[in-house]
Amino acid sequence: MQYFKLGENEVSRVVQGCMRIASKSEKEIDEFVEAAFEGGINFFDHADIYGRGGCEEVFGRFLSRNPGFRDKIYIQTKCGIKPGISFDFTYEHIISSVDKSLARLGTDRIDYLLLHRPDTLFEPEEVARAFSELREKGKVLHFGVSNQHPMQMELLRKYMGDIPLVANQLQMSVAHCPMIDYGINVNIINDFSANRDGGVLEYCRLNDITIQPWSPFQYGFMEGAFIGNERFAALNEKLDEVSARYGVTSTGMAIAWLLRHPAKLQPVIGTTTPSRIKEVCHASDVVITHDEWYELYKSAGKKLP
Ligand SMILES: NC(=O)c1ccc[n+]([C@@H]2O[C@H](COP(=O)([O-])OP(=O)(O)OC[C@H]3O[C@@H](n4cnc5c(N)ncnc54)[C@H](OP(=O)(O)O)[C@@H]3O)[C@@H](O)[C@H]2O)c1
Repeated sequence: MQYFKLGENEVSRVVQGCMRIASKSEKEIDEFVEAAFEGGINFFDHADIYGRGGCEEVFGRFLSRNPGFRDKIYIQTKCGIKPGISFDFTYEHIISSVDKSLARLGTDRIDYLLLHRPDTLFEPEEVARAFSELREKGKVLHFGVSNQHPMQMELLRKYMGDIPLVANQLQMSVAHCPMIDYGINVNIINDFSANRDGGVLEYCRLNDITIQPWSPFQYGFMEGAFIGNERFAALNEKLDEVSARYGVTSTGMAIAWLLRHPAKLQPVIGTTTPSRIKEVCHASDVVITHDEWYELYKSAGKKLP
């Protein structure tokens, strides 16, 4: 596993997502966390809404069964979505959401807090006030966003004073990467040249903001995994071919493809299967070649101009 500095901490290049753990048994959670941690992952991603709070609760119970483990890992959670109602970045919502997450997780601090999805009615001064109060009280140590384009981040940063935005979590996989497609197809009229994210990949690189690709095995909007999916026959064939060269699996290779990008992406894997988690950790040190990266990209149906 590779590590890098995110804010004050040395964190793993791969994040274990916890969106799908609400209904897992204690034994399954033990095996899930153990597979990730033994593979070198020290960073776990949550959100107040995952499992309607159930994912944080299950994780909190794991922490209480394993005293001392909390200090070995970093916990990230998110706020700002009221499911089926609205997006809400008001001061009151942020503060109360963080307090509830702290209680469910049974911890005194959240290492990283992300604003989950843009609230068009947001007042940046209000978010900045909430962030600075949370930081002063030691409840949240680092801040970031998710699913935001550069101008939204600029607007927020204008009011953040000395609090940096360290991360932006965005959907990205070899089968779903409009932020890469657009940069390859500048000035071309085709399906890939649309600027859907405002140049967020380049903006984050320029401003040292880490992109955390979510759903790194999915295509569309969580339509399913592309691994082993006949709709992605050419991609699977190429994943098998390249992964065999490195002695890893295609599941691992899908993450090695993201890790190879010089933007220093930090993928958030959502699989809850211990063997798949181990496959990813095993492949996380593989550095594919420049041309292999493009071969995989093209096999996902992308065209170079
Ligand atoms: N910021 C946001 O808006 C946002 C949105 C969605 C998710 N997230 C975060 O990103 C994390 C990952 O999202 P995700 O779970 O949608 O992503 P994912 O890792 O792309 O997908 C995992 C799902 O695919 C299944 N799967 C089937 N074949 C697989 C294979 N060969 N390898 C790996 N998984 C396979 C997994 O099943 P098994 O579990 O049975 O292996 C699991 O249900 C979440 O846990 C969450 O933390 C953030």
